[in-house]
Amino acid sequence: MSDRRHFLATAAAGLALPMLGAEANKTYSTALIGSGWWGMNILREAMASGRCRVVGLCDVDANVLENGIADVESEGGGKPRGYRDYRELLAKEKPQIVIIATPDHWHALQSIAAAQAGAHIYVEKPTGHTIAESQAMLRAARKAAVVVQVGLHRRIGPHHVAAMEFLRSGKVGQVGMVRLFAHSRGGPETPKPNAKAPEGLDWDLWCGPGPLRPFNSKLHPGGWRHFLDYANGTMGDWGVHWMDQVLWWSGQPGPKRVFCSGGRDVAGPVLKSAQESSTDAPDHQIATFEFDGFTAVWEHRKFGANNAEKHQVGAYFYGSNGTLHIGWKDGWTFYPNDPKATPIHGDNQLQEPQGDGHNIALLWADFLRAIDLAQKPVADIEIGHRSSMMPLLAMISWRCGRSIQWDPQKEEILGDAEASALMRRDYRAPWVYPS
Ligand SMILES: NC(=O)c1ccc[n+]([C@@H]2O[C@H](COP(=O)([O-])OP(=O)(O)OC[C@H]3O[C@@H](n4cnc5c(N)ncnc54)[C@H](O)[C@@H]3O)[C@@H](O)[C@H]2O)c1
Repeated sequence: MSDRRHFLATAAAGLALPMLGAEANKTYSTALIGSGWWGMNILREAMASGRCRVVGLCDVDANVLENGIADVESEGGGKPRGYRDYRELLAKEKPQIVIIATPDHWHALQSIAAAQAGAHIYVEKPTGHTIAESQAMLRAARKAAVVVQVGLHRRIGPHHVAAMEFLRSGKVGQVGMVRLFAHSRGGPETPKPNAKAPEGLDWDLWCGPGPLRPFNSKLHPGGWRHFLDYANGTMGDWGVHWMDQVLWWSGQPGPKRVFCSGGRDVAGPVLKSAQESSTDAPDHQIATFEFDGFTAVWEHRKFGANNAEKHQVGAYFYGSNGTLHIGWKDGWTFYPNDPKATPIHGDNQLQEPQGDGHNIALLWADFLRAIDLAQKPVADIEIGHRSSMMPLLAMISWRCGRSIQWDPQKEEILGDAEASALMRRDYRAPWVYPS
């Protein structure tokens, strides 16, 4: 991306521009851990900023790694060295910036190691696979005094910023309820046979601190989202973005009570044998979060997505004057209660409007600004941590089959030892759960 495009994109988001000091010209040695689909999307924006020297890429899949290195080279970013083990990359390259875009069960150990190595970190959401991991990431970041940006690009996306301003203007009235949702098409699931891991993939290191399952092409790449050993299904994946909008709008640190139900009534039973595997995440879930002064509800369905409901993804803020929808490619729209009033709409301003549609360039510019000025970034680790806890709390309620009381200040589940125990999990040796 040209400097000019960056400048305009940053200005569009209403950010303070740190372009005057010498810091604005500084370049940073940058490494990527997890060079799959999303990691390369981030790295491309890092290269486009013109302020990042790519020194190393790390992936446990040699094919993915080679493709990533070839792409960096062909896109004019030099020839970074390749690594299979992130610990070796950190020790040898000593990067100033580390991007972490591995599956969720790796975020905590890799972020903590990067922070301890003194690197500034851009880590993908959700921060942790379990709550105590996320808490440990926050502590490690603060102890090392490094900048940590969590990949919540919707915090800075111009149409989200505009919708938040509209909400805060009072035009929606008093908001008593928020509905967050992500629906997709789907149906009964067909299991796939387990197989030998493809040549070049270090499957043991991919599983890492999680259980060592037989390899299945449903898992890698990308499909791990729907396996609870490594992620938390659609709610853990998509939910974080939309739950973050609720915390952003309300300014509250978290809910007081959470209840979640759901299942696999359409996808069918979980199949996990030596021969074949299905996914195991729920195909639909409904979670209710009680806040001071309003209730938020999350809904996802991996079936029955069609035109019956106007929007497939986003957040509805229901106020005394009307409903505000914040969406993705459909921008934001206010539907007034007054039947004679015209809806008010703002288009999306995604930097890559087709396909992947995101605002990573803005989030990256803000990350560099925060490093330059030693300030907190817009999606600081504490923000990402709090937003990531919401689906993780809902998953605990879903596993226990009852509502849980949460103290959002102390970050403790109240009066429920079984639910509290699920804030962490056992790691597979030799990996040690972060304390
Ligand atoms: N912010 C967003 O909008 C957004 C969008 C998509 C994905 N993401 C996040 O990006 C991350 C990656 O998602 P993806 O879709 O690219 O997944 P992916 O499976 O395509 O890529 C992940 C890569 O990590 C590698 N990996 C696994 N363990 C590793 C390890 N120990 N060390 C190094 N590499 C390892 C895998 O081999 C794979 O190539 C996830 O956390 C996801 O939630 C965020």
